[in-house]
Amino acid sequence: MVDLAWQHAQIADEVMTGIDEVMRTTAFIQGPQVSTFEKHFAEFCDVAHCVGVSSGTDALEMAVRGLGLGAGDVVIVPANSFIASTLGVIRAGAQVQLVDCDPETYLIDVEAVERAMGPEVKAVMPVHLFGQAAPVDQLSEVVGDAFIIEDAAQSQGALRHGHPAGSLGSVAATSFYPGKNIGAYGDAGAVLTDDDDLAQHVRNLGNWGSPQKYHHPEIGFNSRLDSIQAVVLGAKLRRLGDWNKLRQEAAGRYDELLGERGRVAPPTVLSGNEHVWHLYVVRVPNRDEAVSRMHEAGIGVGVHYPIPMHLQGALSYMGYEAGDFPSTEAAAREMLSLPMYPGITADQQSEVIDVLHRVLDLIES
Ligand SMILES: Cc1ncc(COP(=O)(O)O)c(C=O)c1O
Repeated sequence: MVDLAWQHAQIADEVMTGIDEVMRTTAFIQGPQVSTFEKHFAEFCDVAHCVGVSSGTDALEMAVRGLGLGAGDVVIVPANSFIASTLGVIRAGAQVQLVDCDPETYLIDVEAVERAMGPEVKAVMPVHLFGQAAPVDQLSEVVGDAFIIEDAAQSQGALRHGHPAGSLGSVAATSFYPGKNIGAYGDAGAVLTDDDDLAQHVRNLGNWGSPQKYHHPEIGFNSRLDSIQAVVLGAKLRRLGDWNKLRQEAAGRYDELLGERGRVAPPTVLSGNEHVWHLYVVRVPNRDEAVSRMHEAGIGVGVHYPIPMHLQGALSYMGYEAGDFPSTEAAAREMLSLPMYPGITADQQSEVIDVLHRVLDLIES
């Protein structure tokens, strides 16, 4: 589904030189590579601050806690997302209230948020799923004073009305998991915000809740970006614009190939969005059979995500049931992610689409 070796081949020399420098200076934690990357990534996302942390999941929790939210506060999260979107809220001690997704874009349903708003709702978390931004502008009109916490894990470089994902709400959390549009060589993430105090608070939280060495006024984490990961991310950031363009070209080719056959609809791009195609997701009947047949044919497709959030065992205590979020549940049954990465070739994509149609013929015969 992804070919990370293609990316590594382009940056290998730069990364090895940078890692040698980290080893020579032994600044493994909080080295100058970290602050340089934070500065450049903040510029890329058009925000004042980027605070590097250990993972996207930590970034989400630190964003929630950084805003001072916890017990008694409710955060609205879309049911159609990866479980980490809710874990950050729950681990911060706040309560999650799930809402359904839009049936076409799979992004948070703004009308459902409007219906769910109440005095206890202190924040809403749009997830910029699959590489396109959620309609944060429309959300802002219905959330009143509640904070908007962007889950920008899948959307580095995506734009909404010309503004980068990560700059659209009060605070954003992103992930540099290796397979993301910009991925580290291990786990890493970041919190993004324009708010000076919030950025400092998040930075303190990542340093065991310490604004000053050996002073710990609040419970914190050990969650920081390593210097070696910052070297990798710095090298990838310099190429992210080009790599996202390659993803866009690949998405255009899939659109065309699918359009020629007229059987499987290409994904919907929300008006006002520039999509960066973290994933290229289509819908097919008998999805699970299609996945195993495509795997048998050597095509690395994926499913994001097969079990909706509200039906995960970990969240069963919330009391949600099958049928509560019909659009999310229908999508979870049918969504199929086609191979998508910078460096995928036109021939590879034609083969993917040929095999997909052969598999659909087989299933339907
Ligand atoms: C939408 C979303 N949110 C949060 C995360 C969590 O990021 P991480 O794996 O870096 O903890 C991920 C990815 O894994 C994700 O896809």
